[in-house]
Amino acid sequence: MCGIVGYVGHSAGRVNTGHNALDVVLEGLRRLEYRGYDSAGIAVVADGTISSRKKSGKLNNLIAELEASPLPESVTGIGHTRWATHGGPTDQNAHPHLADDGKLALIHNGIIENFAELKLDLLGKGVEFRSETDTEVAAALLGDIYRNQLHGDHSTGGLTKAMQLACQRLEGAFTLLAVHADQPDVVVAARRNSPLVVGLGEGENFLGSDVSGFIDYTRRAVELGQDQIVTITADSVEITDFYGAPAEGKEYKVDWDPASAEKGGFPSFMEKEIHDQPDAVLQTLLGRSDIHGRLTLDELRIDPELLKSVDKIIVLACGTSAYAGQVAKYAIERWCRIPTEVELSHEFRYRDPIVDENTLIVSISQSGETMDTLMAVRYAKEQGAKTVSICNTNGSTIPRESDAVLYTHAGPEIAVASTKAFLAQITAAYLLGLYLAQLRGNKFQGEIKDILADLGKIPAKIQQILDNEGQIKELGAAMADAKSVLFLGRHVGFPVAMEGALKLKELAYIHAEGFAAGELKHGPIALIEEGQPVFVVVPSPRGRDSLHAKVVSNIQEVRARGAKTIVIAEEGDEAVQAYAEHVFYIPETPTLLAPLLSTVPLQIFALALASAKGYDVDQPRNLAKSVTVE
Ligand code: F6R
Repeated sequence: MCGIVGYVGHSAGRVNTGHNALDVVLEGLRRLEYRGYDSAGIAVVADGTISSRKKSGKLNNLIAELEASPLPESVTGIGHTRWATHGGPTDQNAHPHLADDGKLALIHNGIIENFAELKLDLLGKGVEFRSETDTEVAAALLGDIYRNQLHGDHSTGGLTKAMQLACQRLEGAFTLLAVHADQPDVVVAARRNSPLVVGLGEGENFLGSDVSGFIDYTRRAVELGQDQIVTITADSVEITDFYGAPAEGKEYKVDWDPASAEKGGFPSFMEKEIHDQPDAVLQTLLGRSDIHGRLTLDELRIDPELLKSVDKIIVLACGTSAYAGQVAKYAIERWCRIPTEVELSHEFRYRDPIVDENTLIVSISQSGETMDTLMAVRYAKEQGAKTVSICNTNGSTIPRESDAVLYTHAGPEIAVASTKAFLAQITAAYLLGLYLAQLRGNKFQGEIKDILADLGKIPAKIQQILDNEGQIKELGAAMADAKSVLFLGRHVGFPVAMEGALKLKELAYIHAEGFAAGELKHGPIALIEEGQPVFVVVPSPRGRDSLHAKVVSNIQEVRARGAKTIVIAEEGDEAVQAYAEHVFYIPETPTLLAPLLSTVPLQIFALALASAKGYDVDQPRNLAKSVTVE
């Protein structure tokens, strides 16, 4: 949560780079706005002073403010786009926060847990506070250390030293970026349990919550470790720990194209990302098996013997990623015969779970920064478990702290509601399941090859659904006045139903719930009244036909009570027509792989309904893309 950008260019070299801090920081904020959009702010150092502007609401409000009241040209700046934690989304609570008589500006992502105690201390010293934020306390602490403990001595890297001393006193999770009027060529940053990446340029350097903060300028990035401080100037990047000991970061090359983080002609990122899904699945499959259908997950780098000894798998994730985990559970248990639990990360470590060295933890996270999942993975590691991360964000914290990573190659997902990452996560989890089955001999090579061949056909089948999206879009738009929509599914269709409901809640702000269709008669059927829309994800009539028949009975049950039924069924399943107001057909595919198809119409429906209500589908209210607080 919260997007952070920092920039230092070379005043002499500016002619070469042609970059003004304001432009670089604003461009970075535009790309990072998906991380939080309650308010935004920017500070630059120019002519020996700090100038800053901040505004509640989306980035456009800040841009309007900057047009009305421009900032001076500068080569040093920081910027922030906020997802409110302490204090509401007001101008006053927006970052940057100033200290040291307005000579220091600070921005922050995370939560300072001991802010109340620090604030009391600072109030005792006569510091006045203007906002309700913990960030202003951190700014005041940094300013106080710089001014009163180090006596404003900037000759020996005063701001860096002050940051080290401040971080030694801060508890919680934070990324901090600071600039000081006395040190106009420097941005100092710190991180603990919160993301921060350095971008390396020529005669300029960058900081960002993730690489999209500077992707327009450089592809060279440096990962920082936990509890590190980094000081950037136009020509240098110096890293230390919180006590001043030199430290090193790990350089890597960003392999995605900035154009992949643009809307590509679609009205929203979400619509574009729904249409990216054939490619997201394809890219996630590519290069992971040989022509004999043998999986070659070299990147897993966990001793195969250890994987063979796994006697339990626990999938840890939140939200949509947890639904991907629930889909994966069906496949992994079926293919590998290993008991697999799926647990919401934030519930996991508080219930004293049974985890040992034979447990394989599979975390699933698009961002790789979700704090709840990170903490759960750390806890599991402490108990001796092996940890594999399924993640979409190269270099992010969860894969870095896991024993192994299987990247989903969905490309950057900008819309806050997850779509293409979900399908890519399911795909990656299937690959992991098949790999374990191969390793442990649970499946014949020919069977694995067949499943891989079926997976290989999925991108074209998703495309087929997208090519025929008109009908579901129309239905979504026509249902803009719906007050509540229910979703039913069974087997792998159950997590799909829950994902369909989540998309609708997030985007259209209406009551939506996903149920296991078999659970209906145990309570939820009481919700059904005349005209209640109910989506039903119907399993294939081929193979597990008993399940198909049961779901058809469930449709009849709700229909008999007045529900308006909307059915997602497999091509050729004519049995459902008699009981459905609307039927959307998806191409034939093996049952376990069906979620890769049946989810797509539900995404399109939520998008269309929310768009018809005039809502911003990329940035739904109250949400942020990357949830970096617990
Ligand atoms: C819903 C959504 C969220 C995320 C959840 C986990 O559309 O995007 O529910 O799935 O916050 O995020 P990651 O996958 O980044 O850990």
